[in-house]
Amino acid sequence: MSLGPCEIFEVGPRDGLQNEARKIPVAEKVALVDRLSDAGFRRIECASFVSPKWVPQMAGSAEVLAGIRRAEGTRYAALTPNMRGYEDALKAGADEIAVFGSASEGFSRKNINASIAESLERFRPILEKARHIDLPVRGYVSCVVECPYDGPVAPSAVAEVADKLFAMGCYEISLGDTIGAGTPDKIARMLLAVRDVVPAGRLAGHYHDTHGRAMANIDASLSMGVRVFDAAVGGLGGCPYAPGAAGNVATEAVNRHLSALGYDTGLDQTVLEEAAEMARAMRGMADV
Ligand code: HMG
Ligand code: MG
Repeated sequence: MSLGPCEIFEVGPRDGLQNEARKIPVAEKVALVDRLSDAGFRRIECASFVSPKWVPQMAGSAEVLAGIRRAEGTRYAALTPNMRGYEDALKAGADEIAVFGSASEGFSRKNINASIAESLERFRPILEKARHIDLPVRGYVSCVVECPYDGPVAPSAVAEVADKLFAMGCYEISLGDTIGAGTPDKIARMLLAVRDVVPAGRLAGHYHDTHGRAMANIDASLSMGVRVFDAAVGGLGGCPYAPGAAGNVATEAVNRHLSALGYDTGLDQTVLEEAAEMARAMRGMADV
């Protein structure tokens, strides 16, 4: 019996590769995205227009967007922390962009060198410009359970930032358990607060698998009405400004899990396994 659609938003080429130690050549990144495009994703995040001094691994994002084969029906997304990033993403042909904020002050400062309030003021003109050209903007909220610098984060703090990003025009709010501190109970409590201000149909779960609980957290989120989950093929990932953040939950495992439960993701598991193999090889080479 089908339980209806559930979408996986692929973040491996961005959240995954931004944290690899080895400088991965553009051609390898392009090859990975091209393989992922064959799997049937509606959205793949593959670029990040941030300062190369802060995240050198994402330099070359414009070349990645220029080099990939664009599958019909797939949107290729990029992170944009400020107006400079927005303009670079537009020039490079990103189909959608994402602003990224935090529910905790400590992570906000370490990650984007701004307080939460300053970051929201930085995002506002980006959303205004994007609205004029109908460019979809996604909004991330990091540290939705715990911050590596400030400790536990209150659900109300997450709801406050999610509410502001949604009111500003973000079409979807992705809730980042950046260091995988979530448990099903904590995720459910957080979602209860966020659902009061943003409908569940506009939320995504972005769960890192640091402590092996991401899948259980996805289950808790499903029961709260969330139907979009971010995942990274091969379990790539982490965040350079969140020490200890392991990879995102692995796309191929999430797809297997959602399909077994009866959700329709529209993804080709065989292609996902092949892409995961490629991703693991890229990572393996980073370890030598
Ligand atoms: P800053 O140092 O305050 O910025 O950094 P600035 O305006 O003073 O500029 C400093 C330098 O960066 C200047 O260059 C600028 O031109 C340059 P210089 O004059 O020194 O040669 N610069 C840029 N270069 C390229 N592209 C740009 C750009 N902006 C300025 N867009 C800034 C502020 C936001 C730029 C910096 O903090 C930054 O780039 N941070 C990004 C950190 C990051 O990418 N983190 C990982 C992504 S977030 C994440 O992974 C979490 C998520 O997955 C969800 C979850 O898991 O929770 C989304
Ligand atoms: Mg992340």
